[in-house]
Amino acid sequence: MTNISRRGALALGLAGIAAAPEALAARPGSLNALAAAKGMRFGTAVGVGSAGPEGAGRDIGGPFADPTYRRLIADECGVIVPENELKWYALRPDAKTYAFERADALAAFAKANGMGLRGHTLLWHHPRWMPKWTETYDYGPNPAAEVRRLLTEHVRTVTARYPQIHSWDVVNETVDHTTGELRETAFSRHVGKQEIVDLAFVAAREAMPRTELVYNDYMSWEGTPEKEKHRAGVLRLLEGFRKRGVPVDTLGVQAHIGSVGTGESTGFARPDLAAWRRFLDEVTGMGYGLVITEFDVNDKPLAADIPSRDAEVARLTREYLDVILSYRQLKEVLVWGLADKYSWLQGTSPRPDNLPKRPTPFDDAFRPKPMRDAIAAAFKAAPAR
Ligand code: XIL
Repeated sequence: MTNISRRGALALGLAGIAAAPEALAARPGSLNALAAAKGMRFGTAVGVGSAGPEGAGRDIGGPFADPTYRRLIADECGVIVPENELKWYALRPDAKTYAFERADALAAFAKANGMGLRGHTLLWHHPRWMPKWTETYDYGPNPAAEVRRLLTEHVRTVTARYPQIHSWDVVNETVDHTTGELRETAFSRHVGKQEIVDLAFVAAREAMPRTELVYNDYMSWEGTPEKEKHRAGVLRLLEGFRKRGVPVDTLGVQAHIGSVGTGESTGFARPDLAAWRRFLDEVTGMGYGLVITEFDVNDKPLAADIPSRDAEVARLTREYLDVILSYRQLKEVLVWGLADKYSWLQGTSPRPDNLPKRPTPFDDAFRPKPMRDAIAAAFKAAPAR
């Protein structure tokens, strides 16, 4: 069944977490309170640790096992999102089983603390992140029908378990950033690349008539040809949804900014603000809402000195937020981790000097960094919605 057994959950103390007497709403002056003053919400991803797509149990324990971190989250946030626990590779060890207890712990924590819950994600339609068993599974004599059945049942079962989720990343990252084309997976091979994505949204709407349905991706604001291709691909996808009447409400903007470390460009953030505004104008012009789903600043290319690194990260944060918060369609801002030591970026390609990265608003001792001030200032400066 699951990679974290009931006994394991008890050993981690997860069972008692829901009842922990954390603050009932984010405190006055918190990032969420500043966001709320403008009609928005602020939050973070948080993980209890989970298996990867290969199915092996790694990261067991995770940031959520840290009570001081949980308190910080309850203090600053009005919404959380499970970092991995709702993904197929964490939830579906096989085609029959649902391993809900890790996501349950996070859902209970959100409820106990009066926080909203986002869902991420019903279909990470990317070959690297589908569970390995989907490659070898016997789809039977009518594979297309079996894929449809699997996905529809998954959407119904998972959404029914968490009616408190007000906003779901239904599909994640199906646009290939190098080509702008849709990705191929074991599912799409049988059903079609566009059809599988459409089906996820149709099934989601059927299951959740009033929940915000989001297409989430990492198209970003840099002016390189590759990023331009990614933005164009996402726009084509969003236009297609409208033409075909596919029920999609909002674009999820991941916002992993900072280091531009792949493809033909490297270095630290060279945004093309005009192109980025054009993109956001087109998205909102089609009637889509906006949500920042995964904000962080990768400082990999910046020099080691901490004060100047933090200042540069804060400066970029402010520049990014000022642009996107000017769109009243944006209602929620979530960071992908609230404290540096729990950022996923520590586990991705290291800095050349091997120093820990500083991509989030709080340092390892949970002291606020200049990035927190930048987020606060951006909320204060933002127009109300
Ligand atoms: C990342 C998690 O943070 C890691 O713990 C995990 O190993 C891989 O996934 N875009 C997304 C998120 O949509 O789901 C990713 O989360 C980060 C990039």
